Amino acid sequence: MNKKAVAIVGLGYWGPNLARNFDDLAELRWLCDASPDALERFGARYAQARTTTDLDEVLADPELDAVVVATPAVTHYELAKRALEAGKHVLVEKPPAMNAAEAEDLVATSESSGRVLMPGFLLLYHPAVQKVKELVASGELGEVFCVYSNRQNLGKIRTDENALWSLGIHDLSVVLHLLDEEPSEAWAHGNAFLTPGIEDVVFCYLRFPSGKIAHMHLSWLDPHKMRRITVVGREKMVVFDDMELDRKITVYDKAPEQPSDSYGEWRTRTGDIFSPKVPNDEPLKLECQHFVRLVQEGWDGREMHDGLEVVRALGLLTESLRG
Ligand SMILES: NC(=O)c1ccc[n+]([C@@H]2O[C@H](COP(=O)([O-])OP(=O)(O)OC[C@H]3O[C@@H](n4cnc5c(N)ncnc54)[C@H](O)[C@@H]3O)[C@@H](O)[C@H]2O)c1
Repeated sequence: MNKKAVAIVGLGYWGPNLARNFDDLAELRWLCDASPDALERFGARYAQARTTTDLDEVLADPELDAVVVATPAVTHYELAKRALEAGKHVLVEKPPAMNAAEAEDLVATSESSGRVLMPGFLLLYHPAVQKVKELVASGELGEVFCVYSNRQNLGKIRTDENALWSLGIHDLSVVLHLLDEEPSEAWAHGNAFLTPGIEDVVFCYLRFPSGKIAHMHLSWLDPHKMRRITVVGREKMVVFDDMELDRKITVYDKAPEQPSDSYGEWRTRTGDIFSPKVPNDEPLKLECQHFVRLVQEGWDGREMHDGLEVVRALGLLTESLRG
């Protein structure tokens, strides 16, 4: 099959990682950035790609199949919409839009143009998250009671996006993916200690129609570097710890139980603790491969609807945070 022709829009911190992957998986046809310096730097590295500061020039190319948007979050909606309207498939970095109305409009534009719209929720392509999803979906954990995440560190201190939007969006995408439900309640509390209006520490609580609950602790003012998601099921419990090199996932065969001779008393059972093997593949490569596959083979819109759910939940949490 012919390689698909791709444009990368935005070559700041993250865009070059996407360029590196698409250079392997597709024809890297255009590099576009508002900064001529960035174009000069990456134009030299990818000599076969054309460079421009003008997105319209990119979109006018009839040989171009897809556009990858890696510009600042506030520009995502407008750039993704223009690319879809020009008949291009779009991979848009997280968040795909700043609010639910914009995200719904992108979904509608993708549907009417018949082009793929895939948000770049990186963690969903992490082999460990896929393994946790497998454990949840197969019923191995039993009924899931709750999920909680810890995404903390000292730094990187941001001044443009709060901890919910910068860190929490990753966990939120995983929580919704694992539970396969949209929250009916969303509460967020936090505070802006360093930069007015930019919350550095945020605690979130979500409740789902099934009764499951979730919590997220998000902070760049913390002594612990934690990248951890815990799922508590009725039969087993699982922890995904992205700080671990080899043991990313630990499954605990621990649970509450009510033996028939206990007259309603709860006891706990502690069994084996094991760590399933998780492939060491780069999540970003898997994300880019998935996008190329959707463009080549067609899709059912699942990724963009998942993206819309994340933006909706983020909107509820933001409303709650602002009180
Ligand atoms: N998935 C992840 O783990 C991950 C990690 C980091 C960043 N990101 C996302 O990637 C995106 C970019 O983040 P970053 O840290 O690279 O930002 P950045 O500020 O370092 O880079 C943004 C680049 O976009 C360019 N740009 C801005 N507006 C433009 C426009 N209208 N047209 C063309 N170019 C334009 C800027 O010149 C700059 O080079 C953000 O949405 C961020 O959330 C995702």
